Amino acid sequence: MNTIESVAVIGLGYIGLPTAAILAGNGINVTGVDVNSDTVDSVRRGEVPFVEPDLASYVAGAVSQHKLSASTETPSAQAYIVAVPTPFNADHTADVTYIKAAARGIAPQLVGGELIILESTSPPGTTQLLGDYLVSLRPDLSLDGVEGKPSIHVAHCPERVLPGRIMIELVTNDRIVGGLTPEAAQLAKALYTVFCQGEILVTDAATAEMAKLVENSYRDVNIAFANELSVISDKLGINVWELIKLANHHPRVNILQPGPGVGGHCIAVDPWFIVAAAPDEARLIRQARETNDSKPDWVVKKALESVGHILSPKIAVLGLAFKANIDDLRESPAVAIVERLSAKLDGGDLLVVEPHVDQLPRQLAGAANVSLHALEPAIAMADMVLLLVDHDDFKELNRELLAGKPLLDTRGIWE
Ligand SMILES: NC(=O)c1ccc[n+]([C@@H]2O[C@H](COP(=O)([O-])OP(=O)(O)OC[C@H]3O[C@@H](n4cnc5c(N)ncnc54)[C@H](O)[C@@H]3O)[C@@H](O)[C@H]2O)c1
Repeated sequence: MNTIESVAVIGLGYIGLPTAAILAGNGINVTGVDVNSDTVDSVRRGEVPFVEPDLASYVAGAVSQHKLSASTETPSAQAYIVAVPTPFNADHTADVTYIKAAARGIAPQLVGGELIILESTSPPGTTQLLGDYLVSLRPDLSLDGVEGKPSIHVAHCPERVLPGRIMIELVTNDRIVGGLTPEAAQLAKALYTVFCQGEILVTDAATAEMAKLVENSYRDVNIAFANELSVISDKLGINVWELIKLANHHPRVNILQPGPGVGGHCIAVDPWFIVAAAPDEARLIRQARETNDSKPDWVVKKALESVGHILSPKIAVLGLAFKANIDDLRESPAVAIVERLSAKLDGGDLLVVEPHVDQLPRQLAGAANVSLHALEPAIAMADMVLLLVDHDDFKELNRELLAGKPLLDTRGIWE
């Protein structure tokens, strides 16, 4: 049974703010902490600084009930949930500086007995690193009560919610909770029981860290297989979409769909944390990353071949987001493709269509041959159409508008 009544959530982004709001909505006194004072100000006003269905009403309700407050300073609390970014460095190792900064805010508040949960996606060993770091900042405390020092309880609980469904999946998903000690795991389990109706599965911290990474690597490896099939099929003159559809009729085969590469901040990032942890052993996982990361260059090559005979070609490029029907351009292979095409196109223009944004991202904004357009005018002007994202707007396009134009459909919506 949960005995924790006060929680500080460190990092009020896509993960931290929904978690803070749902805990507060279930009666816990929550302080959300963020280094970004604009974020803190919006939460204090009961507003959400980004788009996530239903989150706004949770935040507004919890703030008006005085269950959720926000601060740039970490307060004293019975439990801390750390949900700060874990990007990767240039060498693909994880950047844990945000986690350490969060720990420096927590350490002075500790008296012993607190629960500290790392929710950020992390390489195996990071929860131990967080625990060791906290104890190095507070040598009067321990992780296991040795030498009679009061202990703090440190656990990892990876987050697996899908943006767009976060408020539903926070409640319904099963969760994995891994403790540095069994007691830490049980305390964390009890806290999540406050709002989580899924099964809460208890393990050690390193296994919980790996479980999250393995889930995303599983998908990455499967997509790499599909992407490799798409390149082989193109060479052999076979329609890869039909090929996969036919193969998937086998009762034990389920090949995922190829695409222009793999994007987003999870599948394109997390497998590298496994590679960094076991570089000599994670050969398939590394190869999958490299296969998926090489797909944008293949798409660029195919697009250039397709317009090679045209002087100053105009290419309509449909989509920039990393997946369908969202506005998130982080780690998007479509953005990388436009950037590389822009550099390689000798004369000509890239007429980009992205219905979910109203301006080009920073990487493309300075390119003279890249501009943002509405769908139908871009297609009318184009010598060739390159489809990079399977947005519904593109699926609903009148196919007659494409008549006579060479198409490169990396998502298979027109095949
Ligand atoms: N967004 C997702 O769909 C998703 C899903 C599963 C796991 N994750 C993981 O959850 C973690 C957080 O991701 P996110 O999408 O919420 O990130 P985000 O960028 O949306 O939010 C992170 C927040 O942390 C704040 N921050 C940074 N350093 C801080 C510090 N020292 N103290 C307080 N606040 C600080 C930032 O200002 C920002 O508001 C990452 O490890 C990510 O990989 C994200």
